[in-house]
Amino acid sequence: MGSGRRIMIGAAPDEADVWQALVAEHGTPLLVFDPAVLERQYHRLSNALPGVELHYAVKAHPNEHIVRTLDALGCGFDVASAGEMDLLMDLKISGRRTIHTHPIKKDREIRDALRFGATTFVVDNLDELAKLVPYRERIGILLRISFRSESATVDLSRKFGCAIGEVAGIVAAAGKLGLHIKGLSFHAGSQCEHAGQHVEAIARCRQLMVDIGKSTSVPLSTLDIGGGFPADYRLTGIDIDAWCGPLRKALADLPGDWHLLAEPGRYLVAPSVTSITTVTGKSERHGVTWYYLDDGIYGSYSGQIFDHTVYPLQILKTGETRRSILAGPTCDSIDIIAEDVQLPELGIGDLVIGHQMGAYTAATKTRFNSLPDARLVCRESPS
Ligand SMILES: Cc1ncc(COP(=O)(O)O)c(C=O)c1O
Repeated sequence: MGSGRRIMIGAAPDEADVWQALVAEHGTPLLVFDPAVLERQYHRLSNALPGVELHYAVKAHPNEHIVRTLDALGCGFDVASAGEMDLLMDLKISGRRTIHTHPIKKDREIRDALRFGATTFVVDNLDELAKLVPYRERIGILLRISFRSESATVDLSRKFGCAIGEVAGIVAAAGKLGLHIKGLSFHAGSQCEHAGQHVEAIARCRQLMVDIGKSTSVPLSTLDIGGGFPADYRLTGIDIDAWCGPLRKALADLPGDWHLLAEPGRYLVAPSVTSITTVTGKSERHGVTWYYLDDGIYGSYSGQIFDHTVYPLQILKTGETRRSILAGPTCDSIDIIAEDVQLPELGIGDLVIGHQMGAYTAATKTRFNSLPDARLVCRESPS
């Protein structure tokens, strides 16, 4: 997943009118957030995973409109930093609806999270356990396990997660320290092609939790299955209900009283944000037409570097195509969004639309060249 880019040439007149009107009102670079799409994604994933409490991974796109929309739906939140908690606090969201999932924390961050009201923390080693001892009366702990992710675009188990063989020892050490490990967590990797890794991880966690439960007075009864639910970057129409089918089956094998959590980021927000950027200049270089846009790799398209993702693009014009390059606005030559693509001739002022751009896009933008950020505006729902 992730390689191979869809480029759509042309648009229905009413669709083009919508983008043009937004640009007339707000200018570019622009990110257009559609709350109705986010709501749809939330309902689809909730329905595909009955009994699983969803906590939006705020890191995917820490934006107030996105957080507000999910808050109104009753979604929980997965936070990993004081900055992410500040965003929720500003929006008056209770820390009780959050889990703190960063396995490595400073003492200051733990205290900030407790003040905020978070009571669930994630660890993956003994040094992190020791940091939580002063707060043991107020917290429950999830122990994160590493499951390497071959089918995912982003492997999140290289850097974090203990080995399966370490689990019993860490749980026993926690018991001696008076810490309550209430369950296990994992992240099967981001943008998983299929749910195979989730299924395997659930089965391994089930066995571990059942085995440990036999030898402890405080059984493990929470399982957090992380994120990994895919966005549809190739616009093939991913059916999340079908994708989650094997996962539902694996979850159905767990004891009915276990508390199940997930931390989706990408699946929820990716399709809810569209980028609009303008051609600000062009040149002919060695037989190729270069178009210079007002957003690029150092801005909203930063996910092409950090997230290994290529986004579906749309050109509103039609016509005979030619070899073209879409480049971003900075002075750096790696700032190229799409190389060697066939596009109709564009003029200065024409728009380039980027789809599925809600996750790990604005979240990883930089301020290189001190260029303005893309502004995020909400698209009104049709009445
Ligand atoms: C701990 C944790 N939870 C959840 C997520 C969200 O994952 P995804 O966007 O694949 O759903 C991430 C992504 O980096 C993560 O690190």
